[in-house]
Amino acid sequence: NRIGIVGAPITIAQPNYGVDLGPNAIRYAGLHKRLDGLNVNFKDYGNIDIENVGTNEKDSKTNLKNLKEVVNGNQKIADEIKVIKSRGDFPLILGGDHSIAIGTISGLYNHYKDLGVIWFDAHADLNTGETSPSGNIHGMSLAASLGEGHKDLTSINGEGPKVRPEHTVIIGARSIDEGEREFIKERGIQVYTMRDIEKLGMDTVMKEAIDYLSNRVDGVHLSLDVDGIDPLHTPGTGTPVVGGPSYRETFHAMSALYDSQILTSVEVVEVNPLLDNKNKTAEVAADMIAAVFGEKYI
Ligand code: ARG
Ligand code: MN
Ligand code: MN
Ligand code: MN
Repeated sequence: NRIGIVGAPITIAQPNYGVDLGPNAIRYAGLHKRLDGLNVNFKDYGNIDIENVGTNEKDSKTNLKNLKEVVNGNQKIADEIKVIKSRGDFPLILGGDHSIAIGTISGLYNHYKDLGVIWFDAHADLNTGETSPSGNIHGMSLAASLGEGHKDLTSINGEGPKVRPEHTVIIGARSIDEGEREFIKERGIQVYTMRDIEKLGMDTVMKEAIDYLSNRVDGVHLSLDVDGIDPLHTPGTGTPVVGGPSYRETFHAMSALYDSQILTSVEVVEVNPLLDNKNKTAEVAADMIAAVFGEKYI
């Protein structure tokens, strides 16, 4: 079916403003041309109108920055995802900071009985107001999708969890906060850290992840945080962490996902052209999107 592209330019769930320019940076990197070269139909619906007015102050009670604004933006994203799904399109969402996953996953929620999530990221994004060292909501979006955190973040399109921990796989993690470790242990989330990738190799990691999810879920959302990739390749992002999967490993991971045909939606987040070098990070993002939609070397 057709790919429905939409930009979701929230930037105020983290302090390095400019992630709102991510969707266009990825388009300017040649996204449409790349998809044209594949055997796919697509329609670009443009960008969701997000009002990025925020501060860098944590609320003294909740320890959250810009809660109301982030919730409003994510409600709009959820609504748009529902429209795209009702047209029968395959959603491809261009972020935006990683808080947008709260909106995309909430919007997808009604369309599946059991949605699976692959969270490709240097981070786990499993903080809540109680555990967050930063107060930045982009570090809380997986927790919120699992039903943990501030009520306003867990109540978009209905109260409570939108995915289950046993339907969640994190790949590439190498910067996990104390509270997030507890979360992972308590809730039994499948995590492939860099250590696991080193030991098993990316090919085996992807085979295991695909195998694990395909027996459990009726749809899989890929949430690709570009900081999951080594910052050697993706420097234009707000929270880079050294020691990540290479371009080659990531391209291979995306190709494995394409071959499995397991995915039902994709989002790419945290591209910040204001921190970048000649739009290199958006170009890598476009490469990874091409791979996940079937681009091959030969
Ligand atoms: N764990 C850190 C925090 O909670 C960093 C989160 C970074 N998240 C991201 N989506 N880039 O602040
Ligand atoms: Mn993230
Ligand atoms: Mn990250
Ligand atoms: Mn199930």
